[in-house]
Formats: sequence, C-alpha cells, structure tokens
Amino acid sequence: MAKKRKSSFVCDECGAREFIWNGRCKSCDTWGSLVEQFDSEDDLSEKLKGHSISSRKKNKVTQFVALDQKIDDLVIERYKCDMHEVDRVLGGGLVEGSFLLIGGEPGIGKSTLLMQYAGSLAKRGISVLYISGEESVAQTGARAQRLGVFEKTVEVGSENNLTTILEAARSKKPQVLIIDSIQTLFLPDLNSAPGTISQIRECTGHLMTFAKSQGVSIIIVGHVTKDGSIAGPKSLEHMVDTVLSFEGDINYGYRLLRTLKNRFGATHELGIFQMEGTGLKEIFNPSEMFLGNSKNGVTGSAVFATVEGSRPLLCEIQGLSNQTNMSLPRRTSVGIDVNRLALLIAVVGRHLKISFSDSDVFVNVAGGLKIVETAADLPVIASLLSTHLEIVIDSKVIFFGEIGLTGEVRSVSFAEMRIREAEKLGFKFFVIPLSCKKIIKELEICDDQVFFISHIKELPEILSCLK
Ligand code: TYD
Ligand code: MG
Repeated sequence: MAKKRKSSFVCDECGAREFIWNGRCKSCDTWGSLVEQFDSEDDLSEKLKGHSISSRKKNKVTQFVALDQKIDDLVIERYKCDMHEVDRVLGGGLVEGSFLLIGGEPGIGKSTLLMQYAGSLAKRGISVLYISGEESVAQTGARAQRLGVFEKTVEVGSENNLTTILEAARSKKPQVLIIDSIQTLFLPDLNSAPGTISQIRECTGHLMTFAKSQGVSIIIVGHVTKDGSIAGPKSLEHMVDTVLSFEGDINYGYRLLRTLKNRFGATHELGIFQMEGTGLKEIFNPSEMFLGNSKNGVTGSAVFATVEGSRPLLCEIQGLSNQTNMSLPRRTSVGIDVNRLALLIAVVGRHLKISFSDSDVFVNVAGGLKIVETAADLPVIASLLSTHLEIVIDSKVIFFGEIGLTGEVRSVSFAEMRIREAEKLGFKFFVIPLSCKKIIKELEICDDQVFFISHIKELPEILSCLK
C-alpha cells in the first residue's frame, strides 16, 4: 500500500512550521504566508543517506578521536589557486567538503568572481561544475571565455531543479560545485515557488548533506535584500561553514570580499578587487588606491590607518563644516556611523569649547570605504578641526585613536601594523594614543616623528605643529 505523504505548513516569511493551515502565521503574524510542504524525508533524504554510504569519504562526523593522539588524518585539506585574495579571505584556500555562501547585491560581480575562481582552481587541476540557474549555458560559456577561462575541468550547466543538479554532481563527481544562485533553485517536492523561504531552506539543507557526505566543496550565491541581509531565513547563515559578502559601490570600480563567518579561518578578512573590462583584478596595494587623489595643501583632510581583518589599509577622511541656514544643523556622514559623528561633535564641543551648533557638518571616507572601527575617531576630529580652524594638515601625517566621552584618547589594537603600513607608503608623522608608546620603542621611529596624545585638548596644538 502506498505510504500516505505527511505534510506541514511553512511560513514564507519566518520559516515557522505549523501542522494545520492558518490564515496568519502564529510566529510572525504575517497573513497568507503559510505554504503546504510535503515532508520529503521519506524520499529525498533517504536517497541522500544511501549515497553517504557509498561516498568517497565515509561519514567523517562519526569518527571519534581522543585529543591526546596524533591527528594527522584530521588535517583540513584546502584547494589553493592563483587568486591569492580569495584564498586569503577563505583562511588559506577552499576547504574540501566545505559549504560556502557568497552574498551580494545583484550586478556587483558575484558570477564574474566565481567564474574566474573556477578557472583559477581548474588551472591547479581541480574539477569544477558551475551550475547557473539565472543564465543559459551559452551566456555562462560566453562570459567564461571573455574572462579567459578555457579549462577542460570546468563544466558549465544551466538548471534550477536541485534533484537534477545533485544527480549530475553525483555522476560527474566534481571537486567543487558552484551554484548561482540559491534563490533560483527548487525542489519539486515542495509546493512553494523558487526563492521562497521554505525552498531556500530545504535546498540549502540538501546541499549541505551532499557536501558533507560526498566531500564536495559547494559554493552557493545568495542575493541580498534591500536591508543588506542575505535573503532567506537566518538559518541559511547558520547552516553554512563560511559566509562571504561581496560588496562595493557601483560608482567605483573596486569590490570588497569580506568574511562574515568562517569555520575554517578568521572573520573580517578583506580581499580587494578592481572590476575591469576583462573581469576582476586583484589589488595588492589597496592603500595606494584609496589615497590616490589626496592632495597636499587642503583643509579638512586627515589620513587614517585602519585595519580590515588582518590587513592594514590607509584611507583619507574628509570633513567639512559650513554655516547652516536651517533651524536644525545637518550631520551627514558617508562611510562613518552618523551617531558616532554626533558623539564626536559633542565631545569637541564640551572639551575643546568648539561649537558646531550653527554649522552643518559633513564627513566622508574618500573612495567609498565603510569604516566601523572606533579608531577612526581621532582622524574624524582632526579633519573637522582642520576645516573649522582652517589648518592645513601635512599630507604625510597618519592618525588613529579612539575617543572616549571624557575626551581621553584610548588605545587601539594593531598599532604596530598600522604604523608599518604607513611607513611603507612614505608617511613621516604619526599622531597616536599615548598608550601606544611601548610599541613605538620597539619600532625604532625617531621621537620627533611621533606625537602622542592622551586627551583631545592636545589636538589643536599638535595640528598647528603639523601645518
Ligand atoms: P555579474 O557577475 O553578472 O554580477 P552578479 O552575478 O553579482 O549579479 O557582474 C555584472 C557586472 O559586472 C555588469 O554590470 C558588468 C560588469 N562586468 C565588467 O565590468 N567586466 C567584466 O569583465 C564582466 C564579466 C562584468
Ligand atoms: Mg550573477
């Protein structure tokens, strides 16, 4: 007798599961979002389980090892290639059998990046299956050829049905499977349309099982929603091993590849690329690129040494204050948190007695970078004082330091790394927190090159020395 298929109802908005249909989801209160879903454990998962037995690597998870033993066979295998920026962001290469999600806005260059990466992996003899659910084989192939990917070991396909994709992957046995994008996939067993939460979650679950059981590294593309999160349930980010985000400003040619989560390496790593006519080019000296246009002899500009992941980066912070003609003066910032700017203006008002209450204040990080570090406080204030007091800061000066509400300048991490990067690029003077004095001794920099600052009150005098 045929088995009766069980079904449940899954909310498309929050992913909650109900056993009877309701007009409104009980967890998130959305109307009409419950979609019937047949439990696929009976068929699909069974198939997947079957495969895990015949897999190349037998169930790694069930292996137990006491930690006092030598654990040579547990060493993580990584696929390395000539795209060193991608390898570095991944923590030293793509881990065999890992599951990676790369998110980004449409049109930012995710497909371009992955195709180039596929080509680069193939040059090292790694086989790649690239499945696009968005473009036809002809389109994907044409793009690959334009990007100079002619390798035999990269095969491209166009498919949306996950069952078909997994069948193909089982027979072709690629080492890396790339799927562009998760939002276009569907499992025929589910009643909902591709891109809905239940489809995304189920497809990701099946892909995860496949990656772990077959030892295939899977890379999936996920489009981000307007609010910047990767579309689909949050559980997607929990399920995968690594989450990368590919971002950039459409107006600028450069693109940033960031690690948001990495089970096999450090997070907050950053890879920098430039989008050109022939694809993405890796940038090895980003500081030079971000500082490209900074000029000597202008007010309202201070250079900041930031650290992104394990990499130091110099960028220019620009400030402008102007008399306001509105009842409420404006505080606008690009690349810096606007609330942090308001806080810094208040600190300057209180401790330096310099009021911006009748001025509009604008701060911009040149080049379109986004800074989240509080170490940017000191250069932001320096740029504002420079514009307000009309002091031109020498373009060979570097600033970093966090400012507290009492006006004290607090220490920041990686001071040595920041200074080394600045020295490499010909910067001569450093305005840094007093607490970094010990590091400077180790670095052997002349005393007259370094200005230690312990309170914001000392800044105007330091700036007038640096004119
Ligand atoms: P794409 O990789 O299709 O973006 P995504 O997959 O994130 O949606 O990249 C689209 C943009 O990249 C498109 O606007 C054109 C540009 N581009 C280049 O500038 N040079 C190139 O060599 C390629 C392939 C694309
Ligand atoms: Mg694409």
